[in-house]
Amino acid sequence: MTSDAKRSIRRIFDEAEDYDRDVGFFAAFGTRLVERSEVRPGDRTLDLCCGRGASLVPAARAVGPLGRAVGIDLSPEMVRRANEALAAEALQDHAAAVVGDIDALEFGDAEFDKVHCGFGVFFAGDVPAMLGGVRRVLRPGGQFAFSLFAGPPLWPWLVEILVRHSEAVPRNEHPMWTTEGATHELRRAGFLEPIRHDVTETVVVPSLDALWTQLWSLGTRPLLETMNDQTHRRVRKEIAAGLEPHRVPGGFASTSTVTILIAPNPG
Ligand SMILES: C[S@@+](CC[C@H](N)C(=O)[O-])C[C@H]1O[C@@H](n2cnc3c(N)ncnc32)[C@H](O)[C@@H]1O
Repeated sequence: MTSDAKRSIRRIFDEAEDYDRDVGFFAAFGTRLVERSEVRPGDRTLDLCCGRGASLVPAARAVGPLGRAVGIDLSPEMVRRANEALAAEALQDHAAAVVGDIDALEFGDAEFDKVHCGFGVFFAGDVPAMLGGVRRVLRPGGQFAFSLFAGPPLWPWLVEILVRHSEAVPRNEHPMWTTEGATHELRRAGFLEPIRHDVTETVVVPSLDALWTQLWSLGTRPLLETMNDQTHRRVRKEIAAGLEPHRVPGGFASTSTVTILIAPNPG
């Protein structure tokens, strides 16, 4: 990945003021990631691409005051929000987020029992360097647990609408994008065979406006940026029609499945 590509990712997330604020998709799956990796009191955990703390905060709760939970993210704004979220639960004495790049982990050897990454491994610019770094900072017998989109998040028709109206081609060729690709890369990096969990969650998107805001704060933003105002209005109208069948009290229900892979570091 070029430094331009990294700058552009950082810009999206630095400006993602409302990232997952009203929808709670990432928060729901972040909690599930930490549950599935069976974090215990006293564990030392590292969260890659921690964002605003979807899995860092549950990990900080789970490790407790005798453990340590550290998160890194390329975006200083996300790091600021993650630290705010930790402070809001008085977890800051044993947990913190710092700016860092998953391609070049700046931690000591065997510093962590568990490494987590919620929907971020496909941002690695250098997959062998990222996975080699994860193995290095994990203790022998530790584990790397990360989540991948098993299909288009929220509703498949939503991405279909965006792609149809956009001039940008959505990126999906990263080696860590699919379970098969990620499993192959994990084997190459020397991890033991990963355990796979498919997890399903339902979230209620409160309104079309909340969904629109969410789309501007994610990887879908480059698709929206290729469209003019008229196309935005048309896209919003199509999304509004798509949402109607999902109406429930409080908004629109979406059920998504994601894949969690848990790869043990040889002991
Ligand atoms: C889709 S968000 C996921 C955030 C969080 N894990 C969650 O589940 O809400 C991806 C995050 O990866 C971060 N990111 C992208 N490339 C990165 C890199 N090379 N190193 C560290 N963080 C990166 C972005 O800034 C963003 O916060």
